[in-house]
Amino acid sequence: MPPGSTVAVIGAGAMGAGIAQIAALHGHRVQLHDTRPGAGEAARKGIADALARQIAKGRLTQADADAAVGRIATAVTLPDVGDAQLVIEAIVEDRDAKRELFSRVENVAGPECILASNTSSISITSLAAGMKHPGRVAGMHFFNPAPVMPLVEIVSGLATSPEVAETLYATALAWGKTPVRTASTPGFIVNRCARPFYAEGLRLLAERAGDAATLDAVIREAGGFRMGPFELIDLIGLDVNLAVTTSVWEAYFHDPRYAPSVLQQERVAAGFLGRKSGRGFYDYAPGAVKPLPRTEAAQPAPARVTAHGDLGNAARLLDRIAAGGVNLERTRGDSRFPGGAIHVAGGAGGAWLALTDGRTATARVVDTGVRDLVLFDLALDYAAASRLAVARADTCSDAAYASAVGALQAAGVAVSRLDDVAGLAVLRIVAMLANEAADAVVQGVALPGAIDVAMEKGVNYPRGPLAWADAIGAASVRDVLGNLAAHYGEDRYRTSPLVARRAATGGKLGG
Ligand code: NAI
Repeated sequence: MPPGSTVAVIGAGAMGAGIAQIAALHGHRVQLHDTRPGAGEAARKGIADALARQIAKGRLTQADADAAVGRIATAVTLPDVGDAQLVIEAIVEDRDAKRELFSRVENVAGPECILASNTSSISITSLAAGMKHPGRVAGMHFFNPAPVMPLVEIVSGLATSPEVAETLYATALAWGKTPVRTASTPGFIVNRCARPFYAEGLRLLAERAGDAATLDAVIREAGGFRMGPFELIDLIGLDVNLAVTTSVWEAYFHDPRYAPSVLQQERVAAGFLGRKSGRGFYDYAPGAVKPLPRTEAAQPAPARVTAHGDLGNAARLLDRIAAGGVNLERTRGDSRFPGGAIHVAGGAGGAWLALTDGRTATARVVDTGVRDLVLFDLALDYAAASRLAVARADTCSDAAYASAVGALQAAGVAVSRLDDVAGLAVLRIVAMLANEAADAVVQGVALPGAIDVAMEKGVNYPRGPLAWADAIGAASVRDVLGNLAAHYGEDRYRTSPLVARRAATGGKLGG
């Protein structure tokens, strides 16, 4: 879009106002249209207020703000949008309403005008179907709040012309955004690839692996996510999050991988919608205190730990244990723990600590013959994690468990014990996020690099799921998924063919 060209934004609600603000700040004349009386003017006032806050922070001059607001016209009827080169609709999320709008716009728009939808869930292919020029219809999916969030998904339907998608991509770049290309498939990139973050969190809660506060703390402090799933769902709204999950699940003909959670449905039925209703997974009533995560009481540091074999990324944990004053010894390995393990000296033979591999600790007792076994969870960065989840085998003695906890505490790590669930919390979520992203690659939804960027920029993940899988190793991810599938006997945990291929060859999943 050449600077100075006209952009029409239809729907002056939360998203339309944000998009109008971006376009006006980048030099476009903006025609803001809404059927609700006063909506356009209210949006313009809101934009002026938002720009005033930018001026106060020294990020914008008064002159630039005045010019931008001056470029926004609000007394706009539909025929007025005829001279726009780009029309972006952000009206109600209803397929028929959007189709009707686009067909009316098509009657007044010039032949070169691009019709973009900000829809987060409606098929772009279906919006274009039946139009005179379906090739000029595409998705331009901003994230909320649009002026702040960098990601824009550029969505191509089956009929979208490549030139139209490229123009939108270039426009988003010129507007300072991070665009990614995606095919019109349910949930596009982000709303599909983020499903396991909520779904596995909810499964863990439903299995009573731990309470919401403990699971959230582990996922934040070990996983490096800004919020845990329950804090995030409370912010999004339990009803809104359930509606997105349900729409992706239905769009994929009830694929069990996307199945919504009964636990969440019950809360929605109760009116526990999250922050906006004062109660969701947490209580937001005045004076309510957020529950603390369950954290093990302090245990004495062990006299000695012995590292057996190569612990991979978790080797950084050993450095921290040693820095905590514990004597560290190393051996070449122990055949019972091919992925490495840590033996902690203590009463009656001490304890064994190993990274979870998707099996329960108790199942690994059967395979290894080691009764005093404690598994620990994945961390984004073992050198920095302030908390780790552990699972204790049913056979592990109290004294052995205490020495394992003491070793982790010597590393400066808070220890949260979860029930002995398969794959613990962070590893299970990350493996399923990577699996979903890999399937999206296989199905041509987007390229690997675009998926990683989308998850970092659209939902603030600390690392793209495919790059994260590469850091763990595709073979480890495959093994975790295989163990989860065997444990639950559910199709939900089936391994993506791409994970299986990369695991077989040692190749990378990421772009
Ligand atoms: P909103 O309810 O704040 O605003 C919608 C506006 O469209 C209202 O002002 C309404 O009066 C107007 N409108 C409805 N039908 C119209 C029509 N036929 N012609 C002209 N104006 C009409 O909704 P919001 O949140 O801004 O969402 C708009 C679109 O953006 C939806 O498609 C939504 O799925 C999508 N979206 C929303 C995000 C969010 O977090 N709110 C994020 C990304 C996309």
